[in-house]
Amino acid sequence: MSQTPVEARGLVKQYGRITAVDHVDLTVNRGDVYGFLGPNGAGKTTTLRMMLGLIFPTAGTVRLFGRDPIAEGAAALDGVAGFVEAPQFYPYLTARKNLQMMAAYDGGDASSRVEESLKSVELTGRADDKVGGYSHGMRQRLGIAAALLRQPKLLLLDEPATGLDPGGMRDMRVLIRRLADDGMTVLLSSHLLAEVEELCDRVAIVRAGRIVYEGALIDLKASAKSAYRLRTTDNAKALKVCEAQAGIASARIEGAAIRMEANESAMGELSVALIEASLQIIALMPETATLEDLFFHLTEGSTPGEIDFPATQASVVGEHL
Ligand SMILES: Nc1ncnc2c1ncn2[C@@H]1O[C@H](COP(=O)(O)OP(=O)(O)OP(=O)(O)O)[C@@H](O)[C@H]1O
Ligand SMILES: [Mg+2]
Repeated sequence: MSQTPVEARGLVKQYGRITAVDHVDLTVNRGDVYGFLGPNGAGKTTTLRMMLGLIFPTAGTVRLFGRDPIAEGAAALDGVAGFVEAPQFYPYLTARKNLQMMAAYDGGDASSRVEESLKSVELTGRADDKVGGYSHGMRQRLGIAAALLRQPKLLLLDEPATGLDPGGMRDMRVLIRRLADDGMTVLLSSHLLAEVEELCDRVAIVRAGRIVYEGALIDLKASAKSAYRLRTTDNAKALKVCEAQAGIASARIEGAAIRMEANESAMGELSVALIEASLQIIALMPETATLEDLFFHLTEGSTPGEIDFPATQASVVGEHL
């Protein structure tokens, strides 16, 4: 049996004329905290529904640890838990009772994990309150507690922090980080780059049902072109060094500084070249928060085919460009 937690290949979901998910390929490896990032309507929930075997794909396949959730149903979800959109509970029952019922339905020794799950999401003190009176953040945490009853190796979470206040978001991040540190593989969807940036090492960025980037966040960051302003002890001489440096574009003197476009690695090399030319750096200022820019560019461009993606990433995005 494959040990790869998630392998989606050529996944398509068509609703009439709408292609909600359009040939999505996605691989989540063991130990990943994987971010599935995209704006509203991009197809995140629909993809997760197919992964959990809740809806049939129009085309393509999903394998969770090598098993097909569509063909094998519940058996394929052994070791997998999570929720799409909002976790569902009986509002007139207490949190503890809700979990006890779920555990009884799941069978096995799940009942023995109710208290531990409540504790893990810090709801022990409110466990005898009716879920109907729970705040949004408490419900999301209870959703994770319900998932933990199954002792998952893979956790699939659809926008777990959306709608939470900043403190609630931080608590959710801490909780997910802790679960990941305990060895759980996590796939979480989000429309917030900052959230994914804090939690995830690998991402798929989805737009209008299509993956426009899949890979390490660090590679995406490194390829993001930034503008920088540089001041040195001799700007005229430094300009010549900048112009000779590979990976630096549009260098020109603007007031007391040199402005240029470059990626992070080119700037690193430039700093060495400046020192070799006996020039001292007085100030170096990045001009824009470019990962954010890149995300908007990737998800809001006119059509996916027209995205002007940094050259180094073209191979990663492959045929979807
Ligand atoms: N049951 C359905 N019937 C018709 N269209 C649907 C259905 N489910 C989803 N869609 C459409 O598929 C597209 C993707 O929806 P989806 O809910 O997967 O997006 P999302 O990325 O989860 O968005 P959000 O961030 O708003 O949750 C949307 O255009 C949506 O209207
Ligand atoms: Mg959604």
